[in-house]
Amino acid sequence: MKKIIIYFIINMKKITIAIDGYSSCGKSTMAKDLAREVGYIYIDSGAMYRAVTLYCLENGLFTPEGIHVAQLEEAMSNIQISFQLNPDTQRPMTFLNGKNVEDSIRTMEVSSHVSPVAALPFVREAMVKLQQEMGKAKGIVMDGRDIGTVVFPDAELKIFVVASAEIRAQRRYDELKAKGQEASFEEILANVKERDHIDQNRAISPLRQAEDALLLDNSHLTIEQQKEWLAAEFQKAIHG
Ligand code: DC
Repeated sequence: MKKIIIYFIINMKKITIAIDGYSSCGKSTMAKDLAREVGYIYIDSGAMYRAVTLYCLENGLFTPEGIHVAQLEEAMSNIQISFQLNPDTQRPMTFLNGKNVEDSIRTMEVSSHVSPVAALPFVREAMVKLQQEMGKAKGIVMDGRDIGTVVFPDAELKIFVVASAEIRAQRRYDELKAKGQEASFEEILANVKERDHIDQNRAISPLRQAEDALLLDNSHLTIEQQKEWLAAEFQKAIHG
């Protein structure tokens, strides 16, 4: 039976799946799980902006006045970002200039510096180009803020995920605690709200729902319910 399912997955037409939404709304979990189940590549575009931010932090490109924009623009050609699957967990790991940074890009320090970096036009241009190259062959699930609107406007399946700020902050708090990292719920909630504001109001590629994206409010959905919904939408999209 498993062989038959794998046969059908291999022989079905491959599509592009764009999952956008607010920070910490569970986009990555749903995108990763879907990609694994249908044998697609998964790319976390937020990890790429986080990796650029980590580079800035490690190379003194943040000053009390803000980012050294000219220095960062010059350094962009030295920033190589790639992904590899962790053979044990089958989860993707982010590499920055050959170094595994999967954990270091998820700290509060990176979270609180990433929005202004992601708002720089030359950073976005470089990341979008890389993302489009990664998706050339289709068979990809990518999550982020502008995947359905800018990166893959022709994606066959677009989903826009929302959940309340409090629920999202609680999820991130639980995640950090589980990893043994220090966290304050109030600080995380403030960070979530601030990032929502910046993501929605930046001049270039602001976060917004693509006209043809399906809206998913997962505030009160279990992971299992969400998975079922997504699997049904995937089936509709590949047969559409
Ligand atoms: O999804 P995340 O929290 O890991 O994203 C990190 C930051 O990167 C967030 O502030 C928004 C930004 N981002 C973006 O501007 N465009 C994307 N496609 C993905 C993330």
